[in-house]
Amino acid sequence: MLKQVIGCLKPARGESYLDVTAGMGGHGAAVIAATAAPQKATLVDRDPQVAQVLGDKFPAAQVLNQDFLSASRKLLNDGKKFDMILADLGASSLHFEDADRGFSFRKSGPLDMRMDTHQELTAWQIVNNWSQKDLATIFRKYGEEPRADLVAKAIVSARPINDTLQLAAIISRAVPKRGKIHPATKLFQAIRIAVNDELGQLEQSLPIWLKLLKNNGRLAVISFHSLEDRIAKQFFAEHAKSSFDAELKLLTKKPITARHEEIVSNPRARSAKLRAAAKIKTKK
Ligand SMILES: C[S@@+](CC[C@H](N)C(=O)[O-])C[C@H]1O[C@@H](n2cnc3c(N)ncnc32)[C@H](O)[C@@H]1O
Repeated sequence: MLKQVIGCLKPARGESYLDVTAGMGGHGAAVIAATAAPQKATLVDRDPQVAQVLGDKFPAAQVLNQDFLSASRKLLNDGKKFDMILADLGASSLHFEDADRGFSFRKSGPLDMRMDTHQELTAWQIVNNWSQKDLATIFRKYGEEPRADLVAKAIVSARPINDTLQLAAIISRAVPKRGKIHPATKLFQAIRIAVNDELGQLEQSLPIWLKLLKNNGRLAVISFHSLEDRIAKQFFAEHAKSSFDAELKLLTKKPITARHEEIVSNPRARSAKLRAAAKIKTKK
């Protein structure tokens, strides 16, 4: 979605940039190349390994190894303002490729799924300690799984579960495959969302990002989950209402999705939705 993101953010020379999910810095590098102002870039990632890479790659930028809600609160407290803010949500390919991080249901690994490896809550604790009812709730809510109760029951009776492949096999036995998508795809994603409080982070950060934007500043959000997209959509719509005190102007009436060629080279892009808006006025 690089081209589409640049099309929405429209970086200009000398502008400031806040990337709240900087990852491997793909988007960051393109924006910084256009602004030619790396010293005005703030790059956030809650994963310590990723933050280390960002620091090496962008020595002139400010790199914050924090979750974006804490980082955004800090930046607001410090009185910072930005011309562009980007949130490219979710986990990165680094997380899925490294079996030891426990994000992939196709490779044997520990039940971890923490983006911030210093965090206490892990997937293991959710899978092995949460009640059947709580497990079913996240599978239904975040995984949109109609047989959530059945999977939760299967998990509870198979405890202890220590390995990602073991968990994937239990899920497969409880919910047969429908279509091309492996049943573990959505349920692993549901556990990951819970481990990293992904929806809570987004919901609480959006109002702060609005405050962190300068007038005419642009905010772009790329989501990979329908609930994330709904949160972004509602926030944008609420602040862009056609009344005298609207604070945002929508730059995307409908979400922008990835082009076919991108989906072929990166299947994860299949569910990506990009929404963007520009700040038109600061509320008192
Ligand atoms: C999809 S990747 C971003 C890729 C990046 N845009 C690029 O071009 O390389 C998401 C990154 O955001 C980080 N992340 C996800 N949620 C976060 C949060 N709440 N706070 C801080 N970092 C987060 C992840 O660790 C991951 O590295």
